Amino acid sequence: MVATLAAVGLALLATACGVTPQTAFNPRSEYANEGLDLFVLIIWMGVIIGVIVEAVLIWAAIHYRRRPGDRLPPQIHGNTIIEVLWTTGPVIVVGYILFVTLPVIFRTQAPAPAGAMNVDVIGHQFWWEFQYPDANVVTSNELHLPVGKTVNLILHSDDVIHSFWIPALGGKRDAFPGHTNYIWMTPNSTGEFPGQCYQLCGYSHGNMRERAIIQSPADFQTWLTSQQAPPVQSTDPTAAEGGQLFQTRGCAGCHTINSTPAQGKVGPNLTHVASRGTIAGSIFENTAENLRVWLKDPPAAKPGSIMPNLGLNDHELDVLVAYLQSLK
Ligand code: CUA
Repeated sequence: MVATLAAVGLALLATACGVTPQTAFNPRSEYANEGLDLFVLIIWMGVIIGVIVEAVLIWAAIHYRRRPGDRLPPQIHGNTIIEVLWTTGPVIVVGYILFVTLPVIFRTQAPAPAGAMNVDVIGHQFWWEFQYPDANVVTSNELHLPVGKTVNLILHSDDVIHSFWIPALGGKRDAFPGHTNYIWMTPNSTGEFPGQCYQLCGYSHGNMRERAIIQSPADFQTWLTSQQAPPVQSTDPTAAEGGQLFQTRGCAGCHTINSTPAQGKVGPNLTHVASRGTIAGSIFENTAENLRVWLKDPPAAKPGSIMPNLGLNDHELDVLVAYLQSLK
């Protein structure tokens, strides 16, 4: 029985390790490293103190247990030595935690070092907008960054308070309307790292995800250049019809597609939407089926979505999906 339970427990633990990329235990920046180092230090201090306290407790409970014929032991109150010891002990422990934590707080809250790459991060219900002001690129939900380059994320919100958090890159920080916040870090390895809005911001707070895509400097530059290009003009007639419909069926009022009359600012910029791996606040893979489900009834796919159900018919859905998929 015990062996079975242990086996099940171990299996669960192994699964947990394998399928949780959204973890702070696999740090990919100096900021994330510092946070994890502090966490591990404090956990070990807690474990050591816990073991000592439990050992003394168990020893005392056994050694001084009540035996037959025992009378009430002498009652002592206010033993000065013990009072001093158990007051100064915790003060020293907590003081040490403060001593190692404060420098990390000051380092990670300080302004970004000179030469950092600026990215404006704007929270919306319920998706993230990323603007690269120096490159004139706007994208959403997928934050591309070059490895080894310090990035200064300039946090704003368009509506309510959100919180930007990619566990692999470090601590979370709030994005406020009407107030600018900053968070900076230097990604140290390539890969894709998921994150999650961390401030209850409405109905689909839990559906407000994001991912950091850390690339080699060359790959990042290639991506940036491709994002700067004007939208693809598809020769496929279905996609072209979708492009027309996009301008006339209401989409253009909320979304921008560079170099077209569509200049709406309410929803994500879709100039290169087909180059993204995910849609709708990074909750769905960017496939034709998911795009179709999404366009058909956005508030059903993501409760509280500001994108309305436009009542698109099957043909309209087909051509719009073809168009969006052509926007590489
Ligand atoms: Cu945005 Cu929670």
